[in-house]
Order: sequence, then C-alpha cells, then structure tokens
Amino acid sequence: MSALDAARPGSAPRVNPLQRIWLREIGMERLWLRPAPAPAALPLAAPAATPASAAAPVPSAPTPVAAQPMAQPAAAQPLAAPVQPAPPGAVADAPVERAAGRPGVPSSILNRSGPPPRPVPKADIAETAPPPIPVAEAVKDANLEQLSQQVVACTACGLCQGRRHAVFGQGAQPTRWLVVGEAPGEQEDRQGQPFVGRSGQLLDAMLSAVGMSRERDVFITNVIKCRPPGNRNPKPEEIAACSPYLMRQIALLKPERILVLGRFAAQTLLGTDATIGSLRGRIHQLKTDEGAQIPVIVSYHPAYLLRSPSEKARAWQDLKLAARAL
Ligand code: URA
Repeated sequence: MSALDAARPGSAPRVNPLQRIWLREIGMERLWLRPAPAPAALPLAAPAATPASAAAPVPSAPTPVAAQPMAQPAAAQPLAAPVQPAPPGAVADAPVERAAGRPGVPSSILNRSGPPPRPVPKADIAETAPPPIPVAEAVKDANLEQLSQQVVACTACGLCQGRRHAVFGQGAQPTRWLVVGEAPGEQEDRQGQPFVGRSGQLLDAMLSAVGMSRERDVFITNVIKCRPPGNRNPKPEEIAACSPYLMRQIALLKPERILVLGRFAAQTLLGTDATIGSLRGRIHQLKTDEGAQIPVIVSYHPAYLLRSPSEKARAWQDLKLAARAL
C-alpha cells in the first residue's frame, strides 16, 4: 500500500521510514504528512435529483398513441448534467498549485475541502445519466414557443437523422381552423414551413375559396414534423413519437375546428382504420384531455387532388361542411 493509498481524511497518512526519507528528499515531508482537512460532501458529477414526474410517462392526449423517449434539449431539460470529459488543455489552463498540498493538483480541486474527487468510472456515468423524458411528459406544460423549440430539437425517432428542418407549423392565432396534413415534403423540409410546395398552393386556393387564410384564420401543421425519406409513409413508431406534439398544439391553439387532410392524418387523429371515403362528408368530434370537443372534418389531401382533379368537387363539399360546422 502506498502513502497515497494510506492517506485518509482527518489523519496523517502512514508512511514507512524509507518513504519519509524520500519525501524529505523532495521537500514534501511536512506538506504531505499534514493531516488532511475533514471531508465535505462533494461527489464529482453527483446526479441531480430527477423530478418524480420525469420518470413516469403520461398517456398522450386524445389519440391512443404511446409516448416515446425524447432526447432532451439542454435548455429545456435541466436534469443531471452529463459528465463531460475534460477538454484538451483544460488541466494546462487551470492554475496548478505546487506550493501547498499535493504536487501537480490543480488549485481548483485543492480549494475544495475534502479529498480530491476520484475519477468517475464509465459504468457509473451510464448508471447515473438521466433517463430520457417521454415526449408526452416533456410537452405537457410547454407553451407554443417552447413546444416549437422541443420539436426543432426532437430526436425521438429516426426521422431526425435525415431532416434539414423539423416543421412545427405556421399560421394564425387565435386559430379558427387547424389544418392537419401528413408530413413535410421536400420543400417543407428545406424551408421549415408547412405546405409550401405545390400541395400548399392548392391548399391556399381551397382555403381562400371559403374566405380563410393562413395569415388570418388558419394554423397549418402535420401529424409528423420531420420528412420521411423519399416521402414514404410514416411508420407507426414515428407516429407514436410525434403525436404528443400535435395533441399539445391542439390544446394550446384551441381551434374552433380541425380540417384533416388525407387518410393518414384522418386515421391518426380519429384513431381509426376507416377509409377516407367513409370518414368524409360528416362531422366528427375530437375530445381533448382538457374536456373540450372540437369538430373534425375530413377531406382529401391536396397532393391526391393534384393527381385526381375530378375529386376536387368532393373536396369543395368538405370545405363547405367545415365552414358551417359548429
Ligand atoms: N404534404 C403534407 O402533408 N404536409 C406538408 O406540409 C406538405 C405536403
């Protein structure tokens, strides 16, 4: 056992005569053998207390989707600070105290009372890292601005890896209509705004035909906030990960009614496998966790209407239904 190993806070370390001679040789005998000060509780990288609420997933609002873990944006989730390896040069930059205490130990450590912190083994770091917070839990108290920041920082599913921009949504507040599409396409991914491509131009024209505009009356968003590669259909786990954002948008915007565009958005929002043909032409009610009931009108997706212009007459019926829905 070395002198270092033998050192215990509050008592002089035991050294054998040879060690004592050696310490005297290097001028450290008096300093080294001085009793260490009493220990103080200063664990390195102690895990911050995790709020109880962060551990328990909360069921998402109206749709029956399971919440997925979300990576935490640093500002929004101040839980336990991750243990960072010292950057190169950190020790060189820190003032090194050589006159007192142990040789070569930075004064930043010596100035703490108690023994210098031991390095944290990697296994301990993994065990004390905060668990990811489920999206549904993270969004539940967010305001619209915070929610939008959470969407931009979201890594709850693999779609984050290929996106240029997450597309939160855009439009009027107070919100008369909430328009819900499927997912951003290429243009939306580039610009970070919903329905800005050809589908978006048709949507604007359809809305203006019933006296609505996205600047004044309508907020536009999608079920999925990040573009699926090649515009493929979103996967169930991506829908599950993203749905809490839409539910929170609905809770915050409190739209008078919701116009859902396309089979995918309709089935997700209404929690059904029914075809779009059977869902359109009537008014559905979405019950929110806050106890509100919001009329929901289903119509065709503008991209489908671009491919099948003969269906525009039906879409026109849907818009008129939405305009008079109570
Ligand atoms: N299609 C959608 O469903 N949403 C968009 O934002 C753009 C195209």
